[in-house]
Amino acid sequence: MARALVGVIGGSGLYEMPGLTDVQEVQVETPFGPTSDPILCGKLQGIPVAFLSRHGRGHRLIPSEVPYRANIHGLRQLGVRYLLSLSAVGSLQEKVRPLDMLIPDQFIDMTHKREGTFFGGGAVAHVSMADPVCSAVADCLARAFASTQAEQPVQLHRGGSYLCIEGPQFSTRAESHWYRSMGASVIGMTNMPEAKLAREAQIAYATLAMATDYDCWHPREQAVTAEVAIANLQQNAARAQLIAAEAIRLLGMEKPDSIAHTALTSGLVTPVETMS
Ligand code: ADE
Repeated sequence: MARALVGVIGGSGLYEMPGLTDVQEVQVETPFGPTSDPILCGKLQGIPVAFLSRHGRGHRLIPSEVPYRANIHGLRQLGVRYLLSLSAVGSLQEKVRPLDMLIPDQFIDMTHKREGTFFGGGAVAHVSMADPVCSAVADCLARAFASTQAEQPVQLHRGGSYLCIEGPQFSTRAESHWYRSMGASVIGMTNMPEAKLAREAQIAYATLAMATDYDCWHPREQAVTAEVAIANLQQNAARAQLIAAEAIRLLGMEKPDSIAHTALTSGLVTPVETMS
């Protein structure tokens, strides 16, 4: 089977990875069924990469339908150690303007109908989610952002909480104000349970969140619509791909012993010998 060091999950509007060479389309078998789409394995600047379209090419899956467990399991089987999540979000803060990008360091999970663990059925583990984002991967994304040029002024924000809703509807105005009062920075529909599962799978995870709108809390801005979100995302898609490519190059030079990889060593309750 193909092998990969870095995985990229492309969200809405990001269905491929330009520059990937020697591409092999792989359908990985998992205990949780098929991944969202066949995984595209190839090389970017000599580094083995696995690209997966989260909603499937042609955008067929709503956020609740994305097979998160299959996706993470499939990427893990290919050997992925670092995972870049490229995700469209709404902004919950004035300073995060549409088209800006943000690398969250926290998540708030408001989803309610997704399978969110690999454990259960006799295998018990409680991994730490206190710091859900790998700071080494996040640093690579930030350095990559700094090295790419923007056509329009786009600011990168480091840190902040990504609040994940079930969707597919956008939030009500009351919900949007509530999420702001929780201190969340951005809102999206997909990074949970993806980040939790990545942690359980000992994959170092970080998100490049691309703000497309002010959701519906802003007194002077139009409430989000799918059309506005997609139009703004398209303006940023090419740069997001360049940032991912540069981050991959930087990750290729990392020592593969980030703190995220120790999650299971401390989180596993069931003795390993009873798990198979
Ligand atoms: N993705 C892009 N904009 C969003 C919003 N306002 N709410 C949830 N997900 C989004």
